[in-house]
Amino acid sequence: QSSVLHKFKGVIFSTMSSEELLNSLDSFEAREDDVFLVSYPKSGTHWIAKVIENIPNARITLTPPIELGDISKFEELKTYCERRVIPTHLSYSMLPMNVKQKPCKIIYIIRNPKDIAVSFYHYYRDNPNLPSIETWHEFFELFLKGDVVYGSWFDHVLSWEEHKNAKNILIISYEEMKKDPSKNIKKIATFLGLNMTDSEINQIVWKTSFAEMKNNTAKENCDPNHTICALTSNRNLVFRKGAVGDWINYFTSKQKRVFDELFTEKMKHSELAKHFGDYS
Ligand code: A3P
Repeated sequence: QSSVLHKFKGVIFSTMSSEELLNSLDSFEAREDDVFLVSYPKSGTHWIAKVIENIPNARITLTPPIELGDISKFEELKTYCERRVIPTHLSYSMLPMNVKQKPCKIIYIIRNPKDIAVSFYHYYRDNPNLPSIETWHEFFELFLKGDVVYGSWFDHVLSWEEHKNAKNILIISYEEMKKDPSKNIKKIATFLGLNMTDSEINQIVWKTSFAEMKNNTAKENCDPNHTICALTSNRNLVFRKGAVGDWINYFTSKQKRVFDELFTEKMKHSELAKHFGDYS
């Protein structure tokens, strides 16, 4: 195993998430108005974070990921005065106990796993905080086995799926966001108890478009505290293609078959899985 990774409770993490911090997650003190922005890596976390940040008069502050850093994290998180929006790639089982006991709002982002695999492959290649990977084929095998940071996509989604009907959880899909950003931005704002006019929504659609976000990378990189993903604070690594269906350029027909078989088996009881039917 590479020096940039370590295993915690059988799941691979970056060494930027210290073992001590991961061990102490249950000592995090949640506030009732906290919002958790949860996703498996490469599901569109930076995008949704940007949407939330742009809601006018939201009085929120985006914090760094809860699992990034060492044990001093909890003290740091106490210093935020405004309503906190806390990003994380943790599975449901690892989410701090206190968050589950309070009515904290949780937004869980989902994305077609084939597109995630391709996006993740590029992240592994470009991100110095992840081990080097030679070929797509090699990465595909690791992804299938869940031998990647944050573990198996299937386990992650299934851990959250169990809670999808809780009224404090909102599921947002990357593909739906692409298809109808206004509708989904409105959904997010309403869920957070915030109102917006149509023109404010249109403004956010524009500001959070892939092209606009990619163009602003250099500007936003100046703020090292503005970290959304515990695997990097370098936004140059994030905005790659921003498309639905790029998997078709990478999966061989055999890989598609193998993946679909595993998907069918693992996701046979999943309601969320139906969403991906349109994209495979
Ligand atoms: P690709 O690698 O397929 O381009 P995360 O933020 O969870 O790390 O997810 C990153 C993925 O979301 C990348 O996918 C990135 O390009 C895409 N993304 C980021 N901002 C986006 C936007 N405004 N619109 C569409 N896709 C976006």
